[in-house]
Amino acid sequence: MKKSVGFVGWRGTVGTVLIKRMLEEKDFKNINPVFFSTSLIGRKNSLIQDIYPDYIKDAYNIFDLKKMDIIITCQGTEYTEKVYFELRKQNWKGYWIDAASSLRMNKDSIIILDPVNNSLIEKSIKKGFKTFVGSNCTVSLMLLALGGLFVKDLIEWISIHTYQAASGSGAKSMLELLQQTGIVFNKISNLIMNSHVLEIEKKVNAIIQSNDFPIENFKAPLAYSLIPWIDKKMKNGQSKEEWKVQAETNKILYRCNNPIRLDATCVRVSSLRCHSQSFLIKLKKDISIPEVENILSSHNPWVKVIPNTIKDTLSYLNPIAVTGTLNIPIGRLRKSIIGSKYLSAFTVGDQLLWGAAEPIRRMLSFLIK
Ligand code: HSE
Repeated sequence: MKKSVGFVGWRGTVGTVLIKRMLEEKDFKNINPVFFSTSLIGRKNSLIQDIYPDYIKDAYNIFDLKKMDIIITCQGTEYTEKVYFELRKQNWKGYWIDAASSLRMNKDSIIILDPVNNSLIEKSIKKGFKTFVGSNCTVSLMLLALGGLFVKDLIEWISIHTYQAASGSGAKSMLELLQQTGIVFNKISNLIMNSHVLEIEKKVNAIIQSNDFPIENFKAPLAYSLIPWIDKKMKNGQSKEEWKVQAETNKILYRCNNPIRLDATCVRVSSLRCHSQSFLIKLKKDISIPEVENILSSHNPWVKVIPNTIKDTLSYLNPIAVTGTLNIPIGRLRKSIIGSKYLSAFTVGDQLLWGAAEPIRRMLSFLIK
């Protein structure tokens, strides 16, 4: 019998990408989907009409949620915290698949990224684990790019610098970035052909620093700038986004007792939906670049080694080339001048696909096999 799968948060950025991918892969034919919402209760919705002609149910109705074999939520942390514990308290034994971060480090949760921890996922299902959570987007994208080196245990540590897209901060933030660039352009477009560039630059800065410039979501201008802080502050001076890198990676790799050291500086940039990352990797041994390329490209079907040339880098190793695809290009591969065991690399990945929706979609297929 087909499993009943409840969907919550399917209209946000991650949820929309998830439903699109599930339609592309014809996943809905294997399940009985039931759509829940916090705002469209009792209505029908044209986006999902073909797969769910019924009325949308209340995402806070525990009685209806308890009827589900599986619940997939992209609704966010607040929803998870309100509903998950109540369902478990009421002895709901179904599978909970979550895109939000709050349950990730719980001992009863498994962080899912099956091209990397497929066997851990399968063992956990057999052992009776019921809670599966997608990892932080930079973590997923890094592990897919460097999976070969992790699997072969060739990494001693990594120093990471991220260039994270607006989408990681949500739909409203993406719109705010577009609004910011639009406001600036509208106010200076008549100057472009007939003013000195430094005059225009001065005007741009004045516009961005004016009190009515929209910064409600980012709390600082992102257009023509960057924000080197993502999420809360931790006691050790890292941001929470930076803290997650080592914690989640080692949980995914099931090596919390023998963690690989990973430190990051996480930065928001004005890319719309692709995160980029630059790595300085200390390898455990000196291996040649062709060998590194071979190890990386044979790990999974999505990682693509980009030759370290100007042309290939500009063509394939940037957010515009990657957006909307499952490709994980990794390039700028070279030995660092620091030493022969130090590898320099750069990768890009779609924050909404492999960074969020795709691991969730693939988890469902483990449960309905
Ligand atoms: N925390 C990430 C970001 C997004 O802010 O870019 C989701 O993992």
